[in-house]
Amino acid sequence: MGATAPDLHQWRKRLQSLPTFVAVQGTEVAGFISYETNGHIELLYVTPSYARRGVASLLYCHAERALLSAGVTELCTEASLVAKPVFERFRFVVTEEQEISLRGALFRRFAMRKRLVTTPPGASGDASQGGP
Ligand SMILES: CC(C)(COP(=O)(O)OP(=O)(O)OC[C@H]1O[C@@H](n2cnc3c(N)ncnc32)[C@H](O)[C@@H]1OP(=O)(O)O)[C@@H](O)C(=O)NCCC(=O)NCCS
Repeated sequence: MGATAPDLHQWRKRLQSLPTFVAVQGTEVAGFISYETNGHIELLYVTPSYARRGVASLLYCHAERALLSAGVTELCTEASLVAKPVFERFRFVVTEEQEISLRGALFRRFAMRKRLVTTPPGASGDASQGGP
């Protein structure tokens, strides 16, 4: 049996409380990323017609930069099977495979982490362990 429809009121409430970057092309939303200020990437979504055009990478880059400049040293997320290779590309590593029950359906997901390394004062180069 499939999952039941999401509760839009809950989604609106959840999104209102999270810092979010939105990628917009003309009048269309191409994607968004929402995160918690402790470094937890809560949501990453790209509209299917914009897939594989670097939208998720661009959004992630902005979020990582914002979190890094806020002093966050480690990022984490729970990635779906679809998002796992994307976060691996962003240099996250899997710490745990999980099975969760959501609105009546079972999903596999992956707890993932990425350590951010700040550049010592005076040193040049990238501020984090590689880019996305
Ligand atoms: C997963 C998702 C965010 C990827 O967005 P995207 O804009 O297509 O990703 P990008 O174009 O920035 O891709 C960056 C890299 O990630 C990897 N990647 C992206 N999509 C992939 C896929 N479907 N399968 C395997 N690798 C993938 C590739 O290495 C890609 O680089 P490349 O295109 O140069 O090969 C998007 O497909 C999506 O929103 N899916 C549905 C919702 C979802 O599962 N969200 C995650 C919840 S945690």
